[in-house]
Parts: sequence; structure tokens; C-alpha cells
Amino acid sequence: MFNRREFMHLGGVAALGLLTASRLFPPNRVWAQRPPREFTYPLPVPNPKGLWGLLKPQGPLTMLAKEIPGLLPAGQAPMLAYQVEHGGAVLYNPTLILRQGQIFEAKLVNGLAEPTIIHWHGLDADWRQTGHPSYQIEPGESYPYRFPVTNRAATFFYHPHPHGLTAKQTYLGLAGFFLVQDDQEQTLNDTLDLEFGRTDLPLMIQDKRFDSTGWLQYAPNDDDVIMGYLGTEVLINGASRPFLEVSTRLYRFRLLNGSTARVYNLGLYRDGKPWPLTLIGVDGGLLSTPREISHCFLSPGERVDLLADFSKATPGQDFFFQNIPFDPMHREMDHSPGAAGHAHGPSLAEGSAYPILKLLLTKKESYSRKIPDKLNSSSPRPDQSGEKKTLKLSLNHHQRRWTINGLTYAMKDAPLVVDKRGVEVWEMVNADQSMPHPMHVHGYLFQVLSRRNSPDQVKGLAVDRFGRLPTDLGLKDTILVWPGETVETAIDFSSPDYPGEQLFLVHCHNLEHEDAGMMLNFKVKAIP
Ligand code: C2O
Ligand code: CU
Ligand code: CU
Repeated sequence: MFNRREFMHLGGVAALGLLTASRLFPPNRVWAQRPPREFTYPLPVPNPKGLWGLLKPQGPLTMLAKEIPGLLPAGQAPMLAYQVEHGGAVLYNPTLILRQGQIFEAKLVNGLAEPTIIHWHGLDADWRQTGHPSYQIEPGESYPYRFPVTNRAATFFYHPHPHGLTAKQTYLGLAGFFLVQDDQEQTLNDTLDLEFGRTDLPLMIQDKRFDSTGWLQYAPNDDDVIMGYLGTEVLINGASRPFLEVSTRLYRFRLLNGSTARVYNLGLYRDGKPWPLTLIGVDGGLLSTPREISHCFLSPGERVDLLADFSKATPGQDFFFQNIPFDPMHREMDHSPGAAGHAHGPSLAEGSAYPILKLLLTKKESYSRKIPDKLNSSSPRPDQSGEKKTLKLSLNHHQRRWTINGLTYAMKDAPLVVDKRGVEVWEMVNADQSMPHPMHVHGYLFQVLSRRNSPDQVKGLAVDRFGRLPTDLGLKDTILVWPGETVETAIDFSSPDYPGEQLFLVHCHNLEHEDAGMMLNFKVKAIP
């Protein structure tokens, strides 16, 4: 521990270092946990300009990745952001809104001091358009993106994907929403009288560490590389423990776990009791039917689309989105069951109870719309006669690296090859002595066929004989695989038909794991 004098001295040196350092946020700053905020900051919602600003592109965009001072609501610290000028406004990490069928065109300009590239997480596009690290650009360079938006309506995510620097750049701020809209969803929002930015709200959930002067700190040690870097505060749209005033009506919340490593188990509570939520969508879009849930797991990279109905509640009541206690199952080092979180370093235990967002019910409004029974055409259980691949997730104790089928990432290799453009079954098998891994596939959405050997806290949420959870019932791009568990997925490589040979990534979306090599290329052969 430091006495106050030493503390200030070191703080001063570190602050000076920042002015001259060639890289941002040197990891040697003094650590001291600042006191928690108590729901006094209004939730940042997308406005026509500024951070998370709403942007419906009318033509090509220029996205400049750079450090912006004083932008982060939680700390006034600099953060990294994508700066875009559009229609006379300046936006940072804009919330992009596109119609299905529209052409998306953007130029990334690298204003950082290191390589970068943008990945459009979940969106269908040719591999050169979705941020493969072999296409990363150097400082001062630019990269052109142009692809038609073929996905149906869903809440997607964009973030950097340079080799070995994905976690750091995402953590320091480069991340945003990419929303696709279509007629089906428009009908839903009309039926429920939802308005984006007011009653239909995106929530970017990210945990961060701050030092005593309020600067973001990204400094994973060797253990963090294995377990993931956990923050001590959870930010929603960049604000620490924010609040939102709501009225007696229905709201739509689109939750995105943009944390590098933290898994959440989220529910809405009033007076310590769960308030029902209706799950209407996941990563790749709307479910066929709405499902009432009380809570759900949300791992890095995943999205859930939830409705909360306050029409029968009384103004004056407070509601909290909070993390519900669970076993984070960090069983990578030993077999000790039920460890509540990492024992090392400053942390907010992953499996503990903590609130992240307060909703104050302040206004009365008359509201009587009903959630439709049918949201989307249902996807039939896919044909499973195609090729089967197994991806085994385990720790190489000797190298202290997580591996897929014993391998770590090699830019030039493609250990998985899709020969035929049809449906394949990919089975993700997590070792017993492991931790949960959110597995993500680039380029293609997939369906979950089954979960086997799930831990009790997961099995208890299953809704069908295949062991699937409500959140497994829509199209996915990221799926959490628990220790000992096997998740079977079906990936349709025939759609969409990027005709040429493709080189996509499959990786763990615990971004510390990804950067340390828990990632493989897979090749999809050209259509003959
Ligand atoms: Cu959102 Cu390859 O990652
Ligand atoms: Cu992705
Ligand atoms: Cu992992």
C-alpha cells in the first residue's frame, strides 16, 4: 500500500508519462479503486450527435479511429473512438442504422499509433469485408468497406480485430452498434409503439478498471490472459451505474455484452423480486415467438433483445437491471467447485449480485398494446446429414494458452475446411477442467441443435428436450460453452453465397483468449 505522499507522487509521474508516451494508457499507473457511483448519471442514449450518435448513412462514411479526450461519461478520461462526420454533426462510435438491402460503404482511417481493422460482428459479408487480421492497416492508412446488408433485422456489433490487439482496442473504447432494420421488425415496433432512442434502447455493457485519477486501465497480467481481464465497474453506454426515467408502458432493451471477458447473468428486479422480461431476439434477429424469462446469461459478444412492461406498475417504484449470483466456473487451474470469481487483483466478482442500471418509474402513461404471439417465421430444424466437425476447447498448461483442437492461431493456416457449400454440424466440446468460452463464428449465423452435459445452472434453464435455452432459439453468432459441456450447432454455408474462396475466423470472444491465440482460420471453398 502507498501512503498518500508516495501515491500522489507516483500519480503525477504517471500522468506526465501519459503526455509523452507513444502508446496510450501506460500499464504502470497507480492502481486504486475509486468509490462506486450511485445511479446519479443519466443513461447515455443515442442522440443525433456525440457518443453513440444515431447515424442512418446516406452514402459513404469515413470512420477515423483515434483517441478522444474527455469523451467517456464514466471518467472524463480519454477513450478511443470512431469519429464520423455526417450531415454536419460529429459522432463517436455511431449507432449505425441500416435497412436490409442497403449498401453499406465506409472508409476506416487509422488514427491510432498501432495497426487496426474493423470487424462487423455478425453481419454477412465477404471475408475481406469483415475484418480479418491479415487485412489490418498501419497508422495513417485506410481500408475501404463496401457490402450489401443482407441480414434480417438484428442488433449487431462492430469493434476492432487487429492481430493480438482486439481486446485492448475494444476495451479502450472502439465499439459500437450496427442495427439492421426490416419490414417485419418495423411492424413489431409499430404494433408496440416503440421508438428507437426513446423506448427502444441499445445498452452496451462493458466492465472497466479505472485508476485513482479516473483513467482507463488495461493491463492484463499473465493470469488475466488465461482467465480474462475483469473490471471493477460495469458501464452502460459508457456511464457507470446510470439511471433512466421510464413511464408506465413497454420498453425494448437491446443488451450487448461488449466486455472483453465478463459473463453476466442478467435480470430485472423490483424490491428484490424478479420482474418478468420477454425475450424477443438474440444475436441474429427476432425469435419466432416471444418467451417470458426472468434472467439470462450474456457472454462477451452476445446480444439479447428484451421487452419490459411497466404498464401495470405504480410510478415512484425503482427497478434495477442486475447481475444474479451464479457460479462463473473458473475451473481451469484445479477442480475446486464453486469459486466465486478470481482471487487475484481488484475485481468485482463475476458471480456476485450487483446492480448495473436503475430505472426510475416516474411518469404515468396509458398503454395497452399487446406483444404479438408471432414475431418471425420459424426456422425448421436444419438438415444434419452434412459434414461434422468437432472443436475441442482446452488449456495447454505447458504454454498457458487456450487452444481449439490443441491449436493456437496461425495467420497462414486454415485447420478447418468447408468443402461443400451446405449445412455442417459443428460441435463445440469444452473440457471439464476449463472455464466458460463464448465461441464466435465469423461470416455465418448458426442454429443451436443441442446442449449436452450442461452444468445445473444452465440445465435448469433448458426449454426443450435438446437441452436448449430460450436464448438458443434464434440465429446466433456467439455461444457460451460451459466447462464439460457440448454445444452442437448447425451452420449453413450455402447462405449467403459469397462465391469465391473465403477465409473466416472461429474464436473465443473472451478477447484476452482470442488475442492469446484461441482462434482458428476456416476456409470455405469457392463455388465450383
Ligand atoms: Cu466480435 Cu471476431 O469478433
Ligand atoms: Cu465476429
Ligand atoms: Cu475462451
